[in-house]
Amino acid sequence: MQFPNTLKTPSFIQKLQWIADPVEYMEKAVQQHPDLFTAEIVGFGGDVVFVNHPQGIQEIFTNDRKKFAAIGELSKVLQPLIGDYSVLLLNGNHHKRQRQLMMPSFHAERLGAYGQAILNLTEEACNQLPFDKPILAHDLMLKISMEVVLKVVFGLSEGERYQKLKDLVPKFVSEMFNSPLKSSFLFFSFLQQDLGSWSPWGRFIRQRQKIDELLHTEIAERRRENNPERIDILSLLISAKDEEGKSMTDQELRDELITLLIAGHETTATAMAWGLYWIHHSPKVCEKLLQELDTIEGIKDPMSIFKLPYLAAVCNETLRISPVVMFTLPRAVQESVKLLGHQLEAGTIVQGCIYLTHQRENLYPQPKQFKPERFLERHFTPYEFMPFGGGVRRCIGEALALFEMKLVLATILSNYQLSLDGQRPERLQRRGVVLGPANGVKILVKGRRPRQESLVVAANTLTC
Ligand code: HEM
Repeated sequence: MQFPNTLKTPSFIQKLQWIADPVEYMEKAVQQHPDLFTAEIVGFGGDVVFVNHPQGIQEIFTNDRKKFAAIGELSKVLQPLIGDYSVLLLNGNHHKRQRQLMMPSFHAERLGAYGQAILNLTEEACNQLPFDKPILAHDLMLKISMEVVLKVVFGLSEGERYQKLKDLVPKFVSEMFNSPLKSSFLFFSFLQQDLGSWSPWGRFIRQRQKIDELLHTEIAERRRENNPERIDILSLLISAKDEEGKSMTDQELRDELITLLIAGHETTATAMAWGLYWIHHSPKVCEKLLQELDTIEGIKDPMSIFKLPYLAAVCNETLRISPVVMFTLPRAVQESVKLLGHQLEAGTIVQGCIYLTHQRENLYPQPKQFKPERFLERHFTPYEFMPFGGGVRRCIGEALALFEMKLVLATILSNYQLSLDGQRPERLQRRGVVLGPANGVKILVKGRRPRQESLVVAANTLTC
């Protein structure tokens, strides 16, 4: 097979460079071939064409399922975790059906109903923070985002099952994505041998079984209860029907719940941690944002927070400069096709490189600088700004993630005075499938901000 713009460095050296520093690797590659290049670095067992030119991205997104198709097999490595019915693994009509069942539950109009829960969860998590002792913002955000998944997505309320899942799930997920050794069986199927609870696979299947039992009990209870008043995402998924009037089976529901957890927990937490970092790294941005937050009456009404323009620009700029997910899901060329003047044969794997598109100087002058104003000054197309991917695989949780990000950041900033602990700038580091802050964003909580009534006077005196 012929590939365009293949990098000259031997493949095994490229892999080492990629593992050591994926961002530096990408930035060097794009110096050789600015719009598109071929490399064999990520684990699909062959060459991948990485595209970052908006025209190439547009071609892929607008021809999804036709000229290009995201094929679930390429995410097969996650199958033991997310199961056979996960939307991530399905193709063609099966994928289409599953998305049609799931999408309405995530519609932006529904979000208002989750707002109060997110505000309360954030308040509760922050109430326990120690003052003047360094904490890792990333850990705090992981905690908040896990509670959002359990309460808003799974619809669990406090109680034994909630507590058990709250203890089990974070450990399970963190071993999967932050410990290459413990999760090596995902990549090497011959390691999938149950040699007792001390062996990695044995431990994995036992933990998975415990989580599955809890989820299946919840699903069964929810079906029995059949309460039309419930608005959490699991309840909506249970009542969703496809064109033939069929609803999801228990196994489908279980697989989608785990998929939403895997796709939505660490990604959103990481985006929020980056948000806190960039806001406090840029005192002028922090000041301007606080002024905007102080224009609304208390941090009480989720929809007023959601609509704040500068907060939206800050979240967008965070997702541009530190895009959390480096690439779109891989797509396979269906029939020989031309992309940016290069002929690609059927079967070629292509991926949109979100990070590199967001670093294009002609779109984002001084791309390494955090400037939310760019998003107020001009509109970017979905092929220029694409933290949530696009086409038929566009992130299902986009609206929820942005909503959560805005509410959590607004609550924390309005109620607490924070500062970054130490001068070392954060670096992007690959943590599992996301680009996280290498040092976890160390912050100091200096104290509570004065209540809203006195803020108008006090706002100008606060430091960031
Ligand atoms: C800041 C947070 C998030 C980011 C940056 C993000 C990013 C992405 C990206 C880049 C994709 C691939 C799209 C493509 O290939 O075109 C994706 C897919 C997906 N995301 Fe997200 N995501 C986030 C949060 C969430 C949340 C909160 C959920 C659900 C609770 C979620 C569920 C999914 C699912 C199910 C898919 C697969 C869609 C499919 O295969 O059809 N994501 N996301």
